[in-house]
Amino acid sequence: MHCMPIELSFTWNFLSIMTSWASPELRKCLLLGVTGGVAAYKAAELARLLAQNGINVQTVMTQAACHFVGAATFQSLTSNPVYTDLWDANATQNMAHINLSRDADLILIAPASADFIAKLAHGMADDLLTTLCLARDCPLMIAPAMNRQMWGNPATQRNLSQLRQDGVTVLGPASGEQACGEVGIGRMLEAVELAETVQAAFRTVPLLQGKNVLLTAGPTFEAIDAVRGITNRSSGKMGYAVARAAVEAGAAVTLISGSVCLVPPAVDKFIPVVSAEDMLRAVQAEIALADIFISVAAVADYRVAHVSQQKIKKSDGNLALELVPTPDILRTVSSLPNPPFCVGFAAETENLEENAAMKRRKKNVPLLVANLAQDAIGSDESELILFDDSGQHILPKASKMEQARHLIKHIHRLYSQQH
Ligand code: CTP
Repeated sequence: MHCMPIELSFTWNFLSIMTSWASPELRKCLLLGVTGGVAAYKAAELARLLAQNGINVQTVMTQAACHFVGAATFQSLTSNPVYTDLWDANATQNMAHINLSRDADLILIAPASADFIAKLAHGMADDLLTTLCLARDCPLMIAPAMNRQMWGNPATQRNLSQLRQDGVTVLGPASGEQACGEVGIGRMLEAVELAETVQAAFRTVPLLQGKNVLLTAGPTFEAIDAVRGITNRSSGKMGYAVARAAVEAGAAVTLISGSVCLVPPAVDKFIPVVSAEDMLRAVQAEIALADIFISVAAVADYRVAHVSQQKIKKSDGNLALELVPTPDILRTVSSLPNPPFCVGFAAETENLEENAAMKRRKKNVPLLVANLAQDAIGSDESELILFDDSGQHILPKASKMEQARHLIKHIHRLYSQQH
């Protein structure tokens, strides 16, 4: 995604360090969100450093930010207009939020106040900056800055944990002397550090750029009668996190999901399914295009042989149901004549290592990701063990989003060795 060329008024000095940014089409576009806090003055220095390095910086300020630093400062430093109002009559078709987020390669909120973090975590859209964060399709980073007690408050930590789960990158904060005179954690990272992080993000070529990734996630549900069924305990959190990490890595992602209580990530194609048979059919319809197949779904292994169309009435006696196996979707895919790179998951309740190693052989997959079911189900964190030809790799306990990013890197490494 690239920005429209803008008129530049850099000196020759600046132009001499703009080597790789010479063509306006190649310039990266950063949307810098500034919220209310003393650290807003550091955001001006950040804007200067980024613009100096050839990045097209579009600044959006909240009303609170305007109390700490003037829009004219950012306008001069970035050579771009500064946006402060959702209802700006000068913006194209009055849709500044859509246009700004469409053009951005990355959004960085610096400083991110406790109040703004709370709004972001709850998906609010009551001003320009919150609205365009919600309407974005690019990565979002935040650099918190606040008093140490506000930082330590459980509400703030809850909101940050939610944002990390949603794939937002949290930069800092640092510890040190604060504007209020107290000493502790809550200082915004220095402008130089933030500028380096943004530039590193822009330098990175997305690992799975041009690759098609097909994922299954969540549980399947096998009907017994009109109202009852057999299912597995699966929140879908791990599968959705892996889908998000694959999107972040530049892949075209198709997510086939059983019923879960989660908002689907912004994938290229989302296919909701109910039963294992539905999931298999959806996988078979999509598999020809897939370079990588990641089977995270907790597929029910059995379904009832005869589903009752009506609700089965209760009686005093026992009820026996005849169960027949469902298709093994992962094995079906890994047994194809020309299979994609297949990744299996295994949630075990005991003998994790033996069971996982055996499962990898049985499913005939190059990579199997194992965890302890009792630790992982429904939780926002997990410890994973990756089993591949070179042995075991432990990913110590971390948020599912972080684990998903590690996993995608590992998949990329193995996939690149084979192709
Ligand atoms: N899987 C699948 N289709 C099935 C069952 C499992 O595609 N019918 C996939 C899962 O998505 C996962 C892997 O196979 O990637 C292992 O799933 P798991 O339920 O742990 O293994 P099972 O083969 O069902 O073995 P068991 O239940 O005996 O542990």
